[in-house]
Amino acid sequence: MIVVAGPASPKLGKRVAELLECELAPLEWKRFPDGESYIRIPGDLKGESVVVVQSTSPPQDKRLMELFFILDLINELGAREVTVVIPYLAYMRQDKRFREGEVVSIKVVSRLIESFNVDRVILVDVHSRKVLDSFNVDVAEVSAMPLIGSYFSSIDLVNPFVLAPDKKALILAERVAEKIGCKYDFLEKRRDRITGEIKTYFKKINVKGRDVVIVDDIISTGGTIANAAEMARSLGARRIYAACTHALLVKNALMRLSSAGVFEIIGTDTIESNVSKVSVAPAIVSVL
Ligand code: R5P
Repeated sequence: MIVVAGPASPKLGKRVAELLECELAPLEWKRFPDGESYIRIPGDLKGESVVVVQSTSPPQDKRLMELFFILDLINELGAREVTVVIPYLAYMRQDKRFREGEVVSIKVVSRLIESFNVDRVILVDVHSRKVLDSFNVDVAEVSAMPLIGSYFSSIDLVNPFVLAPDKKALILAERVAEKIGCKYDFLEKRRDRITGEIKTYFKKINVKGRDVVIVDDIISTGGTIANAAEMARSLGARRIYAACTHALLVKNALMRLSSAGVFEIIGTDTIESNVSKVSVAPAIVSVL
C-alpha cells in the first residue's frame, strides 16, 4: 500500500502513512500565475494499492480539480487499486433540492469522483445519509466524534455538558458525551433558505457553572455555534468550547465565536489549520 497526500492534506496524509507503516509517495504541486493547478508524482505506481488523501475544503473547486488530476495520474501510473479518502467533501450540504430548480451539487461531485476508476471512497462525518447514497462505488464513513470526545476527556472540564446546536447534531453530541461520561441535549434551529439567516430557539438547559462543549459537524460562518454559545452563556455556563469535525471558519467566524463567549475552538485535520487539534488519521486507518 502507498499513500498519496494531496496538496490540501499533507499532514493528514503523512499521519495515515505513518499509522499504516507504508510509503508516502512524493508529490509535486504548484499553482500557475493564472491560478491553474499542476500535479506531478515522480515514480511508478504499477500494481500498487494506492490510498489518496485529499480534502476539498476552500478553495473547493481548485481542491477538487487537484483531486481529479491525482486520480487520473495514478491510473496512468498503473495503480491496481484506488481508495480515495476525502476528509472534507465539498458540496455535501447541497444533498437535495431544497427549492425547486436547484442543482443537487453532491450528485455531480460524486459522479465525477467515481469516473476515475475509484474502488472505494472514505469520508468523515458526512452531512447526511444522502451523501453516502450519492455514490455508486463502495463508500465508508468514519466519525471524528470519539476522538473529539477523547480530547475533552484528557482536559479538566468542570461538570461538563455537551450541547448540539440543532437536532441533526444530536447524534454527534451523544458520541462525544459518551466518551466524556456526561449529559447532553440539543437546541432547535431554523435556517432561512434564501438569506441563510439562523434562528435558535430558547431552551432552559441546566448549564449553570458548568463547562459546555458545543458540537457540530461543520463550523462555517460560526453563526450556528455563536447562537448556541450566547444561549449557554446567558444560562450561566462557565467555559464554552466549540468542537467540530470540519472547521471551515469562513469570513469572521473566529471573531464571531470569540464575541459569543467561546473559550476554545477544537477542529480536526479534515481541514488543516491552527484549530486542527484532533487528528482523524486513526479513524481513517481503522477502515483501511
Ligand atoms: C448545518 O446543518 C451544519 O450542520 C452546520 O450547523 C452549519 O453548516 C454551520 O454553519 P454556520 O457555522 O455558518 O452556522
